Amino acid sequence: MKVVSIVGARPQLVKLAPIAQAFANTEHQHVIVHTGQHYDVNLSDVFFTGLGIPAPDVHLGVGSGSHGVQTGAVLSAMDPVLERERPDWVLVYGDTNSTLAGAVSAVKMHIPVAHLEAGLRSFNRRMPEEHNRVLTDHAADLLLAPTEEAVRHLRDEGLGDRTELVGDVMVDVCLRVRDDVLAGRHTAPALPDGIDPEQPYLLATLHRAENTDDPKRLAELLGALAKLPVPVALLAHPRLVARAEAHGLKLQQGAVHVGTPLPYASMVAGVLGSVGVVTDSGGLQKEAFLLGRPCTTLRSETEWVETLEDGWNHLVNHPDELGDDWTSLATRPAPQAGRGTPYGDGAAAKRVVQVLAERFAAR
Ligand code: UD1
Repeated sequence: MKVVSIVGARPQLVKLAPIAQAFANTEHQHVIVHTGQHYDVNLSDVFFTGLGIPAPDVHLGVGSGSHGVQTGAVLSAMDPVLERERPDWVLVYGDTNSTLAGAVSAVKMHIPVAHLEAGLRSFNRRMPEEHNRVLTDHAADLLLAPTEEAVRHLRDEGLGDRTELVGDVMVDVCLRVRDDVLAGRHTAPALPDGIDPEQPYLLATLHRAENTDDPKRLAELLGALAKLPVPVALLAHPRLVARAEAHGLKLQQGAVHVGTPLPYASMVAGVLGSVGVVTDSGGLQKEAFLLGRPCTTLRSETEWVETLEDGWNHLVNHPDELGDDWTSLATRPAPQAGRGTPYGDGAAAKRVVQVLAERFAAR
């Protein structure tokens, strides 16, 4: 069996790591196509080296652009690649523009498509990721769902027949790296200047279009981070840096200390060393949950609803509306309650390869 994985953005590289490892232990052929949606060393290269992912076989180099330009560039660049490779499956990951473009290009060439992390929904149709998820799920032939909630969404949309519950591959990679970090097999994370890793600190990220693109909204969120009573390590995505500069807003204010995005193991170490996380990232919400740190999510909804159980994660759309409660909420201690294993047992990637092989053999 020959499978082409199409990836392009940071969270997809994290998911690719356990999949590439699962393929490496088989006779199947696994071809990696990097679209080039993310091109900064901190958002791309360090994930390949840090997570031991083989170098991409093909690099499309599409770079940044409006949604239409970026999606279209991947779509047109994929035709000759799929023509040449003629895989038995195209595997697309998550919800980025690279995901949607990869799925559409394969469907148009009658190549079966599998969607990893299928069935997530925010029900917020203003999010670019929500368009990408819904359209990809409906285009794909096989929907690899990470949770029971995702399976329910797919059934509700009439896609139950194409759905397999495999668990979440992010558990595979997160727990493996956590064990390495705890065993001292990684160097200490490069936290922003001014953050003392021996003292309590919060780890923060902010990158979603809904939070960064409107100057008033971004000013409110940065102001809320600035007034927290513990130092905040803000690992700034290039989009946040670019938008703050364009809006004339300072990132470094009050409690906030600005750093760059971290490689995966450093991020895990950074979360483990923190007293909590404040973020709008889907992946980081879940990593905080898996690593046992309370998370405050700066959004009105989350796709990872399981993290909300027992207060491990809290949604805050407008910190300003909470008054003083904002600071106590963002710095609350970890709940006493256990977390269960709603995201599976850490063997999802192996299951993905198995399901792809079974479905291929049954054709
Ligand atoms: C994308 C995904 C989002 C995911 C995020 C993870 C879409 C619609 N969104 O958002 O779901 O959570 O990746 O990071 O696909 N930029 C750089 N260097 C880079 C990449 C981006 O400077 O290597 C800057 C550019 O100014 C670019 C902006 O970030 O215009 C946005 O990048 P883009 O890839 O379009 O979306 P993300 O915000 O990264």
